[in-house]
Amino acid sequence: MMPVITVTNLSKRFNLEAGFFARFGRFVYAVHDVSFSIGKNESYGLVGESGCGKTTTARLLVRMYESDGGDIFFNDSIDVRHLKSGELKQYREKVKYVFQDPARSLNPRMTIYEALVSGYRFSSRWPGQKRARSEAAAILEEVGLSEADLERRPAEFSGGQRQRISIARGLLMEPELLICDEVVSALDVSIQGQILNLLLDIKARRSLSFLFIAHDLKVASYFCDRIGVMYRGEFMEEAPAENLYRNAAHPYTKLLFSAASRSPFDGAEAAAASPAPLGEVKTATARIAGCAFAERCPLAEERCLRDRPDMRETGAGGLARCHKV
Ligand SMILES: Nc1ncnc2c1ncn2[C@@H]1O[C@H](COP(=O)(O)OP(=O)(O)OP(=O)(O)O)[C@@H](O)[C@H]1O
Ligand SMILES: [Mg+2]
Repeated sequence: MMPVITVTNLSKRFNLEAGFFARFGRFVYAVHDVSFSIGKNESYGLVGESGCGKTTTARLLVRMYESDGGDIFFNDSIDVRHLKSGELKQYREKVKYVFQDPARSLNPRMTIYEALVSGYRFSSRWPGQKRARSEAAAILEEVGLSEADLERRPAEFSGGQRQRISIARGLLMEPELLICDEVVSALDVSIQGQILNLLLDIKARRSLSFLFIAHDLKVASYFCDRIGVMYRGEFMEEAPAENLYRNAAHPYTKLLFSAASRSPFDGAEAAAASPAPLGEVKTATARIAGCAFAERCPLAEERCLRDRPDMRETGAGGLARCHKV
């Protein structure tokens, strides 16, 4: 599988102290030693409870945050962490980020056309007003809206429609990787299903890779080919979505699935209708010696508190960070 992006041993901590106290450093270990890669045309899911480091990981990929260590390679050749500003701008045309909250990501004063082309206009690929207009109209139609909507403003649309517009904006420059950060979680369940189905259509139609972030393992299983499960900034398990559902290896993944009720393969609405899982987990503020999950794990034994497990093959085509697997 040709990767579109490869992440190796990526880490990021945030200093909780500012100014004079910063040198005493109290840290949040938001992302710790994270490795994964996303193949061309693959939909990769990043799943875990609130605060586990999903958004931080995604922001590191587009350099909205700078990482403390590790590597990020795009198409095997572009060293993302060391791009200079001009190169970074080009890279960000190929890796687009769609945010959770469509209300905040669309400027209420802009028309939809202006919002769609705001990044495009200043890129090297700007094809001129006329051409851009017809591309914008086409992309709106692809997401289920119409050309007439180009002149309207965000307030005239529902939450689901605004999320369609955000997705259209992400697609306009034909990125190679689209990062979707909780793009359905702010929406009503029935609307969530429609947006998930739209994303599946886009996935089928276009040559495009996805990083799909969700706190809900069932929603992610419905959309993704492969999934990485995070806990307290670390990867706990990674597996093809279908194997993960049938054969989760890591006790934490099992816990996440038991918090959900129906099969993720029932359909978009059923997947979206799963109850909200466990909630927020305190992020590690000190690096502990053992397994990050040990204190909550029903199977934990002494060694789990002492030694951090490596990611090891599970036999089901995946990897798990667990001594007991
Ligand atoms: N800019 C920041 N400064 C300080 N701490 C931060 C910052 N951004 C994130 N964090 C902390 O890092 C940890 C990981 O946060 P992150 O937003 O990546 O989690 P998440 O998995 O996306 O959660 P959610 O599901 O709620 O979106 C949290 O403890 C968070 O408080
Ligand atoms: Mg987040």
